[in-house]
Amino acid sequence: MGGMDPKDRLLADTFDGQAEKFERALLQSDAAALARLVAFAGLSAGSKVFDAGCGPGLVGEAFLEAGHVVHGIDLSAEMVRRARERCARFGERATFEQGSALDLTTAGSFDAAVSRLVVHHTTDPLAFMMAQVQLVRPQGALVLCDHTTDPERARARWHNEIERARDRSHARSLPPGELLELLARAGLESIRYAEEWHDLDFDEWFDRGTPVLPKAEVRVKLLSGSARGFTPSLRPDGGISIRGCWAMLCGVKPR
Ligand SMILES: C[S@@+](CC[C@H](N)C(=O)[O-])C[C@H]1O[C@@H](n2cnc3c(N)ncnc32)[C@H](O)[C@@H]1O
Repeated sequence: MGGMDPKDRLLADTFDGQAEKFERALLQSDAAALARLVAFAGLSAGSKVFDAGCGPGLVGEAFLEAGHVVHGIDLSAEMVRRARERCARFGERATFEQGSALDLTTAGSFDAAVSRLVVHHTTDPLAFMMAQVQLVRPQGALVLCDHTTDPERARARWHNEIERARDRSHARSLPPGELLELLARAGLESIRYAEEWHDLDFDEWFDRGTPVLPKAEVRVKLLSGSARGFTPSLRPDGGISIRGCWAMLCGVKPR
């Protein structure tokens, strides 16, 4: 895409490179967790779902398996190629395109919009949410799933510095309160919040990133602190486990 905004270009290039490992990552491809996200969304049968930053189609596939219709968009051509391949068996119920989730203008044409693990890559999370609000019909749902960080500012800063050292496209993980506020600011009602906790292996996580600092340096920094939603612990085998937290949020667009 020739005229792409430089920030979008960076994201597209980063995720073209990460796509293969991302699609195979245990945490991201966990079918039970994906089914819990679909259940959390609680959509009516046959809903038309917009998947913002669809990646390799893992989220889209879960909604398609539940009987919904999915249109996904992603900046990364490689992610879109994988999403099409993964969801080909659903025929016309599954469509994917390359582009920015902020650029679509088909107002009110979806019953729901979902984004998983995208908000922390955006420099303007509210604009990202508002673009989805536009696309959803009144009484439609917005579903967001993303990393969380500590409500305490210094701990959140430490966490986000490590995320950015490991992935050049990381913008900012938000604390739970800010995620809730984001949906409220986007004008949504009846907001629900739930958490999913998991353990992440530092090596596996770092090795599928696009780092800007050497791994040894990031490892030392990681062992120097702790945050809610990003708590490292050194294992007897010398590896590091990170206790992480994803939040799931759902809000309803007013009439
Ligand atoms: C961490 S991946 C998550 C993929 C997928 N949602 C999942 O959870 O399996 C983030 C994806 O968001 C895409 N992305 C980030 N900002 C975007 C935007 N403004 N429009 C479209 N895609 C975007 C990236 O290209 C990347 O593929």
